[in-house]
Amino acid sequence: MYFIANWKMFGGLNSLNSIHKVVKFFKTFKKNKFIKIIYCPPSTLIRPMSKKLKNTNIDVGAQNCHEQDTYGAFTGSINSMMLKNVGAKYVIIGHSENRQAGETNKLINLKIKNALKSGLKVIFCIGETLQEKRKKITKKILNKQIKLGLNKIKNKKNVIIAYEPVWSIGTGLIPKSNELFKTIDFIKKKIKNNKVLYGGSVNPKNIYELKLINNIDGYLIGGASQDPKKFIDIIKKTYN
Ligand code: PGA
Repeated sequence: MYFIANWKMFGGLNSLNSIHKVVKFFKTFKKNKFIKIIYCPPSTLIRPMSKKLKNTNIDVGAQNCHEQDTYGAFTGSINSMMLKNVGAKYVIIGHSENRQAGETNKLINLKIKNALKSGLKVIFCIGETLQEKRKKITKKILNKQIKLGLNKIKNKKNVIIAYEPVWSIGTGLIPKSNELFKTIDFIKKKIKNNKVLYGGSVNPKNIYELKLINNIDGYLIGGASQDPKKFIDIIKKTYN
């Protein structure tokens, strides 16, 4: 099971102290062999965080990258090679907050290709908006996002899919269990042999409901991951 913390645009150097609790907990947690924890802090914290997590089995990832994998005149941008250089092993690509800011499937495809080339593992986000859900075109949208996002990528071994319905991100809402099971199943049939995670308002309360859905390979956790207590709680409750 994957537990991926997406800190979004939150956190300064002082927030690094909070991960100690998670490191400590994880060392002695009985099920830790079956778990992969990945912290995706803002880019400013990748280096100090990966130093802090040295000699633990917790990894660090980035939240996005530029589509070009070589240096270039792109003010304000960071590419996958540079992220790898400072300790990132993973990168989130295609998050709906970036899709809403204008990222297209085509651009996402380029980012994924080059991030993989740089040796990063990719957490590829897909998901429908509320409007698309109401129109009952969720499958069509997911199919398109998968097809175009992974276009001409032969080796998908290092791609993890995160299904995040846009309407459930930061809203406290999660899909109905039977619907979520079916959607995850649909994704797994489209892209075989890849892990498929769920993301969107995962918290210590709804984890009881989510953990019963037995085709989910883990969670991408936003808000709740910034609080070590909540993050630990989610992991613990997944197993008992
Ligand atoms: P949330 O965010 O858990 O705060 O809903 C999830 C995400 O955006 O990855």
